[in-house]
Amino acid sequence: MAQLLHLEGIDSVVLEDRSREYVEQRIRAGVLEQGTVDLLHEIGVGERLGREGLVHDGIEIQFAGERHRIDFASLTGGRRITVYGQQEIVKDLIAARLETGRPLHFEANRVQVDEFESETPVVRFRHDGEDVELRCDFIAGCDGFRGVCRDSIPAGVLRTFDREYPFAWLGILAAAPPSNEELIYAYHERGFALHSMRSPTLTRLYLQVRPDEELTEWPDERIWDELEHRLGLEGWTLNTGEILEKGVTELRSFVVEPMQCGRLILAGDAAHIVPATGAKGLNLAVADVRLLASAIAAWYRNGDVSLLERYSSDALRRVWRAEHFSWFMTSMLHRLEGGDEFDVKLQLAQLAYVCSSEKAAASLAENYVGLEHV
Ligand code: DHB
Repeated sequence: MAQLLHLEGIDSVVLEDRSREYVEQRIRAGVLEQGTVDLLHEIGVGERLGREGLVHDGIEIQFAGERHRIDFASLTGGRRITVYGQQEIVKDLIAARLETGRPLHFEANRVQVDEFESETPVVRFRHDGEDVELRCDFIAGCDGFRGVCRDSIPAGVLRTFDREYPFAWLGILAAAPPSNEELIYAYHERGFALHSMRSPTLTRLYLQVRPDEELTEWPDERIWDELEHRLGLEGWTLNTGEILEKGVTELRSFVVEPMQCGRLILAGDAAHIVPATGAKGLNLAVADVRLLASAIAAWYRNGDVSLLERYSSDALRRVWRAEHFSWFMTSMLHRLEGGDEFDVKLQLAQLAYVCSSEKAAASLAENYVGLEHV
């Protein structure tokens, strides 16, 4: 957001709750849509992404003991995805920000946003042992699902749409070369598993687990056994290695409408989250700030408020498309707690359909690589 504004000649102050080291190391998502990659190049932070990002032309879907490839490139007119860790983008954006000389404050705490229903909103925070008060034209609430911005909006303004899923993901990062060139989404009677990666020497793997699962229940050996079991196929070996990171992620859908209250405007996870299946979260945040930065730039250029007034409804069209896609992928690929054989048969029918019908595969593919127009 700050880089987009900078390129329009608009000043901003970026407040980050955590330290630079923390945000540069924290492992998050890793699959970039074509449009996200294009934007990162446009704003001048695509150099390392171009060099190190792993470009994939498709994914594999596994069920009933077989793997099926969905070829994005041929189904979407050449659109692709790129595997590049979110924390690598964070590093590139921080470097670009520091180069502009514009402010970026790490470990800014006790952040409060106020008076955003006036023309001069205020942000208060503590940084380097001092209390600071900042008046501005707009506050971009890009502070994530548990940030302060959304919760500062008065009761009754936002409508919330929420769904929790009865499972979570246990994710690991392992010092092992990926065992397959592409991602593998596996439906298995013991639950979903995903093979992904971060580099030629780092594998990222996930297992469907219970939402209340304790990491202590999952010693390394059990994780590898379960991955082998759910992803395994005759003639294929899962590469193993030291587990560098382990964590449990809840799966949840959440949207607020509108994504705005006066001059406090929400973007990304502050306004919406998706269950991880399909990797839409980061991509939606990027799509939001592209719209928001254009709207703010138009306002500074000639006082044009039309894009600002439309921001929420424009952004929500893509948000709801991605909510549907993420729900669809999640529902198709996970074993449902309390589900019966009827649920299983429906899932298998859907999996067979997307892997055998070119039209169904094309629908999955265009959503996965990111729709150009929503
Ligand atoms: C990854 C995460 C996802 O949610 C997904 O659908 C694919 C890959 C990942 O972290 O690599």
